Amino acid sequence: MLRTSLIHLVLAQRNAALRIVGASIVGASRPRRALMSTTSTSTPPPKSAAPSASPGVDQLIASTSQLKKPDAVSTVPTMVRGDWVLFHPVYTPEEMRAVQVLHKDAKTISDKLAYGLVKFARYGFDVVSRYKHKEIPPASPMTVEELRKEGYLLDEKGWLNRILFLETIAGVPGMVAATLRHLTSLRLMRRDSGWIHTCLEEAENERMHLMTFMTLRDSSIWFRALILGAQGVFYNMFFLAYIISPRACHRFVGYLEEEAVLTYTRCIADLEAGKIPEWTDKPAPEIAIDYWRLPADAKLLDVIYAVRSDESTHRFVNHSFANLEVATDVNPFALREPDMHVKGGKIAFERSESENYVRESHAIMRQKKENSDA
Ligand SMILES: [Fe+2]
Ligand SMILES: [Fe+2]
Repeated sequence: MLRTSLIHLVLAQRNAALRIVGASIVGASRPRRALMSTTSTSTPPPKSAAPSASPGVDQLIASTSQLKKPDAVSTVPTMVRGDWVLFHPVYTPEEMRAVQVLHKDAKTISDKLAYGLVKFARYGFDVVSRYKHKEIPPASPMTVEELRKEGYLLDEKGWLNRILFLETIAGVPGMVAATLRHLTSLRLMRRDSGWIHTCLEEAENERMHLMTFMTLRDSSIWFRALILGAQGVFYNMFFLAYIISPRACHRFVGYLEEEAVLTYTRCIADLEAGKIPEWTDKPAPEIAIDYWRLPADAKLLDVIYAVRSDESTHRFVNHSFANLEVATDVNPFALREPDMHVKGGKIAFERSESENYVRESHAIMRQKKENSDA
């Protein structure tokens, strides 16, 4: 009986793989339908099929399967443009350049603790990665190579190490916050008021930063071991901290994002000044063009501007969250988000500003409904 079930399972998997191969081929011209057909088509396994293995079928699956990708690169982005991710902002070139480096003064004890932890974490990471931001002497005659040798500049590998490590950490808080708020909603049987989605969107957005920069460099086993250890420690610590004080955790993330905006601003400045020559005129990765809806001839510089805009969004949203009553207030950004001229030039909404923003959102929605009813 068990053996028969296993045979049916194997045959069902094989049939499903073949359907997907077929759907993928059709999908080259009709991607949306291809995606649906792979998930909605369901044929029961043949009840009296002989359990004979067919090497021809196996070879076909092995050579054309879109399921098995040894490098774990998804086939979806090349088939479906744009709608394979959660909501995220898409910026105009002006918006991307409207981002400023800002800092929120830490006034309360928990704010000071959150800021101190971020500064400590940054210091620790700088020591481990042997990085120290040094101002280049004015009118220095040193070449880029000499500046790198003297520790004034990071080379492209150094930038990628910093960015990749930071993005593996940055993707954690949104997922932890969403998980805990989801569990609270289930446990207390009450609505969440829109926070879960924004937290999930942030987590995915950070992971997309990582996926984008991963296309530029593969990581060594030592680097991966460092990430493994850091994730194990950071995930559990943040999980416990969020149970104790969600507000302090959003403030912590707000400060972390201040550092991210600063890091990318320095990277942009170096790149525009020709101090990362390996990246001058480097084309944007395909995944980034798709995700941020960039023009086909976009450069890596455009991608870094878009990433910095995202970090500015996280900075604004998390500092604004930390100004709310996290257990009872609605998420002011559940229905819409301010544009980058607000998020890039203002550190956060105070609670009263969030309340006004929600009131505005409701007025806009009422107006839309009236217009559609008319
Ligand atoms: Fe990021
Ligand atoms: Fe971020």
